[in-house]
Amino acid sequence: NVFSGISSLADFESKICNCKKCDLAKGRNKFVFGSGNPEARVLLIGEGPGADEDKQGLPFVGRAGQLLTDILKAIKFSREEVYIANIVKCRPPGNRTPTAAEIDACFPFLQKQIELIKPSLILLLGATAVLGLLQKKESLSALRGKVYEYGEAKVMVTYHPAALLRNPALKRGCWEDVQAFRKIY
Ligand code: URA
Ligand code: SF4
Repeated sequence: NVFSGISSLADFESKICNCKKCDLAKGRNKFVFGSGNPEARVLLIGEGPGADEDKQGLPFVGRAGQLLTDILKAIKFSREEVYIANIVKCRPPGNRTPTAAEIDACFPFLQKQIELIKPSLILLLGATAVLGLLQKKESLSALRGKVYEYGEAKVMVTYHPAALLRNPALKRGCWEDVQAFRKIY
C-alpha cells in the first residue's frame, strides 16, 4: 500500500499529521494520532477526539478518558503499556458521530497503525469503533460478550466510557466485558 515504506509510528505520524482527506480537517485544532506503547499487545480504539483531546492532541484525556484510565487500572493495565487510538483522528464538530465518509477517509491510517503495532488483542469502545473496524451495525448489547477477529488479533467490544458517564447502569456490563478481556489476555 501507499505507506509501505514507513516502519515506525513516529514516522507515520509525521507523514499524516497535516491530513486534509475529509472535512474534519477544517474544524480541528490538533490532529490526534494516538498514544501509548508502540509495541503494545493491547490496542484500545475509541470514536474520535472530543474538545479536550482536540486541545491537547492526545486521545482520551478528558472526563471519558479519566474513566477509561480507571477501567484499565481495575483490570491491571496502565495507559503506558497499552496503545490508545480512535476511528477518526480529528474532532467532529460538536462531538457528533463521524460520518461514513469520514470513517472511510481515516480508516487506512488506523489500519497502518495496527500493522505497525501488531496487537494481539483489540478492545473496541462503542458502536462507532465496532462499525469502523468490523463493519458491524448491531447494537453494542447484541455484540458484546463475544470474541471477533481482525487479521491476527482477537477483538472484543464494550460500551464507550462516555456512554457509561451518561448511563451508569451500563457500568456493570462494561465490568463484565473488561474482565473477560483481561482473562483472554
Ligand atoms: N472519546 C473518544 O472516542 N475518543 C477520545 O479520544 C476521547 C473521547
Ligand atoms: Fe484526515 Fe482522518 Fe483528520 Fe479526516 S479525520 S482530516 S481523514 S486525519
